[in-house]
Amino acid sequence: MQDKVLEYLRKKDEYVSGEEMSGHLNVSRQALWKHIQVLKDCGYDIEAVPHLGYCLKSAPDRLFPAELAYRLHTKFIAKKIYYYDALPTTMDVAAELGVKGCPNGTLVVAESQTKGKGRLGREWFSPKYKGIYLSLVLRPELAPNATPLLTLLCAVSICEAIKEATGLEARIKWPNDILIHNKKLGGILTELNAETDRTHFAVVGFGLNINNDKRSLLAGATSLKEQLKDEVNRAGLLKKILLAIEENYLYLEKYGSTVILDKWRAANITLGKRVKVNSHHRVLEGEAIGIDSDGALLLRSDSGLIQKVLSGDVAHCR
Ligand code: BTN
Repeated sequence: MQDKVLEYLRKKDEYVSGEEMSGHLNVSRQALWKHIQVLKDCGYDIEAVPHLGYCLKSAPDRLFPAELAYRLHTKFIAKKIYYYDALPTTMDVAAELGVKGCPNGTLVVAESQTKGKGRLGREWFSPKYKGIYLSLVLRPELAPNATPLLTLLCAVSICEAIKEATGLEARIKWPNDILIHNKKLGGILTELNAETDRTHFAVVGFGLNINNDKRSLLAGATSLKEQLKDEVNRAGLLKKILLAIEENYLYLEKYGSTVILDKWRAANITLGKRVKVNSHHRVLEGEAIGIDSDGALLLRSDSGLIQKVLSGDVAHCR
């Protein structure tokens, strides 16, 4: 019912009497008052003026389902949202939901994580209310070896949304790092539930540093706040990201990997560089000359041999 009260206040966008609202929503005046108190406790600034009624003045910067769903014009991404104030990691909750058969595009979002997972067994620092930490359950028609494309798709979508929301040009370091001015703003982790030739579902998780103060960031990291010298509305940005993910996912379904790879090439900073790739306990060195249709990196070694790298950690040499 709180969501309905909120929706009503939003729709009205002016003072609305308790009598009118309780009539419309079919609740007693006392119950309505209680719902308003709960919303206030959640951080909604609702003014109550005698003879005028209630008015929503502002919403808190929380990733509540009601905030994310408000005017989010997606068809399947985030139509189902699981919200947590704190979780060990959104990845495991999303994977469990995937096994239980949740719909394509199901979103698991947390305001903080105590065991945030990064790639290659690293930890993802997830302080409360500062960043965006989420996992999406995706059910693409892709063979398991082509699912790295989902990582690229998310990276491209994040850059597009950041540009639209803030004007900042974020860049991608293969395969999954989102950088601004060569500092890490975010990362993407994709985990698969698949058989040899069949993808059941993928869990694509990403973490972004948004309103972290400069001094609280790990070495080599940045946040949008550090870059803009201003706070960013996380829910607003996240909605843009979700919309971009859906748009790019539909491109992938319709046109195959071409559009996504073209966008990725335009936003990446790895191609054309000499790189060292730490992949499966070997270090490969050479020039990053391209990206394959499945998202793998093509590396030309000094001997001229071209190798396909499916996963790994890239360091740019120059
Ligand atoms: C990386 O190593 O760069 C990938 C980091 C991915 C972090 C996100 S935060 C939300 C989701 N839940 C996790 O535990 N990890 C991913």
